[in-house]
Amino acid sequence: MIGCLNHIAIAVPDLEQAAAKYRDILGAKVSKPMALPEHGVTTVFVELPNTKLELLEPLGEQSLILDFLKRNPEGGVHHLCFEVEDIALAKTKLLAKGVRILGHGEPRMGAHKKPVLFLHPKDFCATLIEIEEK
Ligand code: CO
Repeated sequence: MIGCLNHIAIAVPDLEQAAAKYRDILGAKVSKPMALPEHGVTTVFVELPNTKLELLEPLGEQSLILDFLKRNPEGGVHHLCFEVEDIALAKTKLLAKGVRILGHGEPRMGAHKKPVLFLHPKDFCATLIEIEEK
């Protein structure tokens, strides 16, 4: 069902500092910050030849990233995002296999203006999984 690794997301307490590390120390191509209020994050993408990193900083008081950063004050890997051909079909198959989908269970528009779903970390080895339609 899953295809390419679209991105690895890393939650960070300071987005500019994190972006500078990837840009100035590791020499990666780093995008401008983009606010996604409906997801409670500001993101920066680090473009790699074979995938991307998504650096996430909390945006707003309700941000789910805040809890993560309370547990991991210096930041850390937050989720993995895999591509799927058809998100509605993927959702049906996952639910049939007993996988829990987070939130209201319907796809939302992600950072790439494509529909995404988040799967419960307890169903995947304590790793939060995002699936994104190709
Ligand atoms: Co993501």
